[in-house]
Amino acid sequence: MSSPENLLAEVENNLAGTAGDACRLFHGRGRRFEGLEHVSIDYFHPLVLITLFAEVEQDWLDQLSADLLALIQPLGITGLGLQWRNRKDVPVEVVWGELPHKPTARERGLHYGLQLGGRQNLGFFLDMAMARQWLAERAADRRVLNLFAYTCAFSVVARAAGALSVVNLDMSASALRQGQQNHQRNGILDGSRFLSHDLFRSWGKLRRLAPFDVLVVDPPSRQPGSFIAEKDYRRVIAKLPGLCADGAELLLCLNSPHLESAFLRELVAVHAPDLEFQQRLPNPPQFADENPELSLKVLSYRYHRPAV
Ligand SMILES: C[S@@+](CC[C@H](N)C(=O)[O-])C[C@H]1O[C@@H](n2cnc3c(N)ncnc32)[C@H](O)[C@@H]1O
Repeated sequence: MSSPENLLAEVENNLAGTAGDACRLFHGRGRRFEGLEHVSIDYFHPLVLITLFAEVEQDWLDQLSADLLALIQPLGITGLGLQWRNRKDVPVEVVWGELPHKPTARERGLHYGLQLGGRQNLGFFLDMAMARQWLAERAADRRVLNLFAYTCAFSVVARAAGALSVVNLDMSASALRQGQQNHQRNGILDGSRFLSHDLFRSWGKLRRLAPFDVLVVDPPSRQPGSFIAEKDYRRVIAKLPGLCADGAELLLCLNSPHLESAFLRELVAVHAPDLEFQQRLPNPPQFADENPELSLKVLSYRYHRPAV
């Protein structure tokens, strides 16, 4: 059995465009490659990582690995890894070579740590590249709030771009610890705060730290007990105007295949009408989706303080 030619052509095309930055090489989940919806391939120099969301035939996997190696070995890749997202808590397997001792994702001159030890998420979301760029373009001299901060990639970008300050909030203390390490890794030693709190118990604290000029809101779509977009996003949106400086810019993210951008836009219209919709950011081209409404949605807004 041979690897589908269009998969290899896509990988080759995306590799040619990276210039060494981390990126998705193959996005089967975008449903543009029939029968390959369960396959992702990512590039984190010097590692290439295959992620599978379903079991596959060993012969198919062996052929894919051999074909990939022919493409990536000349580029100085020293390890090909395999992550099974359909199996629970298994670490990344080595398919060829070795996994980097301290794996990182590089993007626009900044570095972010990766965890290959078996958690579902690696510590860095490639599909958020355009949102990080949006933030880098407007963070200078601004006060930034990063809600659902995870490993604080947005904060690293903002401080590197000259943000005055960043407040990161996430209920996961371990994600925030990685976030602090991400700052240190990039030589950013001050200017960011790390609040390990449940957002829904933190409004008073955030109001005391407000106002903010740029706000990023990137919740999970469904984390039972913590955040369920259908019922909880409206509660966040309703509180945002109280944290904004006049003219503040906001990014609201929604990564659920079951909720479209109209869901977010309607919530904002009803619960925070002083936020004016600006645009939906494009996703990185490697993440093209047969139905863009099922993929990541990142909407930008501007806050206008109502006249009294
Ligand atoms: C999609 S991740 C955020 C990714 C991050 N913005 C990035 O670009 O790397 C969602 C995060 O929300 C956090 N979270 C979920 N419910 C929360 C809550 N109620 N309060 C605070 N953080 C929460 C999780 O711990 C997780 O780190």
